Amino acid sequence: MKLLLFISLIFIFDKIETSKILVVAPMPTHSHFTVAFRLAKELADRGHVVTAITPYPQKIPIKNYKDVPVIENIEVMAEEKKAFFEKNKRKMTENIMSLFKMTFLLTQSTLANGNVRTLMNSKEHFDVIIVEHFLNEAIVGLGHHFKAPVILLSSVISSVMNNYIFANPAPVSYVPSKGGMLTKHMSFWQRVQNLFMTGIFNLIMEFHHLPSQREIFKKYVSAGVELDDVLYNVSLMLTNSHVSVSDAVPLVPGIKEIGGYHIMPPQKLPDDLQNYLDNAHDGFILFSMGSTLQSKDLKPWMIDAILRAFAKIKQKILWKFEEDLNQLPENVKVMKWVPQQDVLAHPNVRAFITHGGFLSCTESVYYGVPIIGIPVFGDQKYNIAAAVSNGYAVKIDVSELREQKLTWALNEVLNNARYRENSQRRSRLMHDQPLKPIDAAVYWVEHVIRHRGTPHFKSAGLNVKWYQREMVDIFLFLHVMVTVMLLVFYTTVKNVLNLIDKKKANAVVRKNNE
Ligand SMILES: *[C@@H]1O[C@H](CO)[C@@H](O)[C@H](O)[C@H]1NC(C)=O
Repeated sequence: MKLLLFISLIFIFDKIETSKILVVAPMPTHSHFTVAFRLAKELADRGHVVTAITPYPQKIPIKNYKDVPVIENIEVMAEEKKAFFEKNKRKMTENIMSLFKMTFLLTQSTLANGNVRTLMNSKEHFDVIIVEHFLNEAIVGLGHHFKAPVILLSSVISSVMNNYIFANPAPVSYVPSKGGMLTKHMSFWQRVQNLFMTGIFNLIMEFHHLPSQREIFKKYVSAGVELDDVLYNVSLMLTNSHVSVSDAVPLVPGIKEIGGYHIMPPQKLPDDLQNYLDNAHDGFILFSMGSTLQSKDLKPWMIDAILRAFAKIKQKILWKFEEDLNQLPENVKVMKWVPQQDVLAHPNVRAFITHGGFLSCTESVYYGVPIIGIPVFGDQKYNIAAAVSNGYAVKIDVSELREQKLTWALNEVLNNARYRENSQRRSRLMHDQPLKPIDAAVYWVEHVIRHRGTPHFKSAGLNVKWYQREMVDIFLFLHVMVTVMLLVFYTTVKNVLNLIDKKKANAVVRKNNE
């Protein structure tokens, strides 16, 4: 059976000729780059010729892979990064607006970049363009510029940021907004809250974000074409999501899940690290706050509290900490950089203390490791809330990061088997798929190339206005109909009653006259 599948795969992959692919991933953060680069490199490895617009050009050349660097984007983002640990204290609206400001500046600096202008002015031809989509619609315009079909790539599941491009239904009654702590199980008031959060985001998209993206598109790509028509033409979206780690939500045929595709087969660890983990006879815990915000940004009193809590347990700790740390307890090892996936693959790992970035959560589930989540910004609170409600994580608020709280969390996750069992059950689900996620990703890219776009996946929902799609017009019509009918009924009854009254009165008058 496996052999058959293998042969048919070779057949599928053999049939496609070498294609020219443009990958655009302008976000200067490790996680956004990772998901785009993983796919770009895989396509290059399989013989396609890949051009990649990213802020991180490769130092060692890769076969079939050419960089168009947009290094300037790193600086645009740098200011924003500083405020990340403070964000917790800021109002939600402030956070949202700073997100839109940042993505506006990044979209603009990408399309204005000299290297990108040179590429646009060249006679280069592409068979497909893959855009890492994150509030950067104007960049989708490159599809129009190069007359090539466009695939969006999302590092997380579909959301209010892109559902509108596919008319993907996401009822607020059971699809939680990714910006908060709501899960798929919502009370009445939480559903009201969800409606407001989703509604506000939609309004900002409609009246602030998209108008400014249309402007950038007109200025840098094409003045004579509407961005909305370009977005209508988008072929597919690949989302880094899967029911093992994301909610089971409706997805139109134009959205394909490839969750976990970014995870590489485990590599050999450096010798000292391998020894350290092999000798963790009571197991070890990995601790990383990710790459955008970092452990070194934690307040000194938090670091002290964390070390005191660690000193009390028998497990070893591997902490990704970006500076030197002194006076470590015996069971704590600090490294400036950790090969996270390979460490999570080690059989001795017992738990993962993480900021709850979506890639980290996915990797944790992939290897069946329970989570202690310390979410800080973006979708992290939502990711951890979902993991907690699915029974494979506990959460610590970053403002509550004290010795006692962390000790509680460690004991809970290490001593209560259900967290590990739930994570391992989900791991088995993630591994039980008809195609390996990376093979599925390549398959869909080549499908778009083979058919020069995929109008066959387009939902008819895209051809009606939002109020038609949500049946607002029908309900309004029915409402008016029922009101009119009630009015007619009311006046008729009233008139009939009046008539009867009058007749009775006349009869009395007649009788009296007789
Ligand atoms: C959308 O796709 C159609 C069919 O391929 C093409 O004719 C049209 O020019 C495209 N629109 C834009 C704005 O690129």
